[in-house]
Amino acid sequence: MMRFALQARFTLSGDVSGLTKEFEKFIAETNESILKKGPEKLAVIEKYAIEKGTLSLFITSEGTLRPHNALLQIKNALSKDLGKTHHVGVRGITIENYMISFDLAHEPLKEVTIPFAEVKIQGKQATMVLSDVSEEFLRRNYIDRMMNRVKEKVENQYYEGKAEFWKLIWKSKEKPSIWTQDPTEQMESLGWLKQGPTKGKWFYRPQAAAILKTMEHIAIKEVLEPLGFQEVIESHIKPFEIWLKTGHMEGMPYEFYYVAEPKTRDAKDWERFIDLTKITKEVPVEELQKNLSAPTAGICYAQCPMIYWSFKGKTIAETSLPVSVYDKTAISARYESGGRHGIERVDEFHRIEPVYIGTREQLLSLREKLLERYKHVFNDIFDLEWRMAWVTPWYMQQAGKIADEGTQDTGTIDFEAYMPYRGTRQDSEWLEFQNLSILGDKYITAFNIKAQKSVLWSGCSGIGLERWTTAFLAQKGLDPKSWPDGFKKYLQNLPEGIQFL
Ligand code: SER
Ligand code: ZN
Repeated sequence: MMRFALQARFTLSGDVSGLTKEFEKFIAETNESILKKGPEKLAVIEKYAIEKGTLSLFITSEGTLRPHNALLQIKNALSKDLGKTHHVGVRGITIENYMISFDLAHEPLKEVTIPFAEVKIQGKQATMVLSDVSEEFLRRNYIDRMMNRVKEKVENQYYEGKAEFWKLIWKSKEKPSIWTQDPTEQMESLGWLKQGPTKGKWFYRPQAAAILKTMEHIAIKEVLEPLGFQEVIESHIKPFEIWLKTGHMEGMPYEFYYVAEPKTRDAKDWERFIDLTKITKEVPVEELQKNLSAPTAGICYAQCPMIYWSFKGKTIAETSLPVSVYDKTAISARYESGGRHGIERVDEFHRIEPVYIGTREQLLSLREKLLERYKHVFNDIFDLEWRMAWVTPWYMQQAGKIADEGTQDTGTIDFEAYMPYRGTRQDSEWLEFQNLSILGDKYITAFNIKAQKSVLWSGCSGIGLERWTTAFLAQKGLDPKSWPDGFKKYLQNLPEGIQFL
């Protein structure tokens, strides 16, 4: 049950105190026309008052016609009606008070707040009280989104702390582990890797770089090229408009690295900044802030959003379906805060992201082929102990949404590797070293991508080079001699590296 009660005031272009009769008629007619459909009352003007140049209205409804929508219609009718006969026009609308009550599926577990309104909840009934609302605000559909946001926040309270959805699909045989060390620590002490210079970033010296690059090479040679994927190169910097479309903007705003442009590139405007830097030999942060624009973009978070953007509004020829492309150039940044560990949980990582667009049948078949190629890599080349599981689709997580199993036509498969240094197979957390998703028409719709005839779906797969590396090394050790033959075919000897004194 919904109830809306709106107290609004029209500012009129002239004194209407003499038009009592006309207003009485106008209000009665409005109640019978605009606010009614057949015998059904859509909304009701319960009270009104005229005073000099204003008309105050109190409108209620049970939701069929929202009073704020009624208000915009009344405004037009009033302008037409009184404009013609009495040359009175409507200058503006002021919402003095707007009360909206609606039902929730569950009682909230704790308080709920949202911008623009005071929220009160009794049992399963929520009431939002808005004051001082502009006409623009009403037109832009904020009210409906505010109600949805309250409902969503209450529902989310029930999911907090709930176990993540996880369903095993397949697992390899147990494989004997060669060691139980943390590969990052060992590579650091051997000088293959250097931490930093900023949080969660790494400098890969020749030995570690060679392993990461081998991973990239294997992914391309063993998975992507055999399946006909074509390489694209995308921009590293993602404008907010892309993330607004994918849902990342509302889902992950606390994990982005933001990109700020200089306000001007005129050296004169930077004179004080340069002076201060030369004199103090420090970065004058406050002065810097004055010279920067607010961010309108961020560093790559995932590569697929921009690939979809590149197809925005396009009609793809049937002969190009399924589209299968990959980017291996954009480097991703995620602000990890507490969770950082080694090269496996970092703020900056290297990933190849294949993206595919085609019919449902094409994508389901491509998924089978990808799985087959991936299995070949992890079984025959890496000789890995690993498993696959259905998990919450990444696009839900990254849009800040709660657990959903997907349908198995659509959804995300995580690939997880046993990490001997973390403990036993049963009790330790396995490392998610890759994923693969089919996402239905979510991004196809968001970016308005079409085909001549076919109904399109899309999907992507994340091949994290650091994750492949650390999963492999955690099981197989750092000595190339003990690596599986399949891998040795790709990398038999490590580069010499650099000796330090
Ligand atoms: N887009 C997918 C993800 O973010 C694959 O990289 O997990
Ligand atoms: Zn993706």
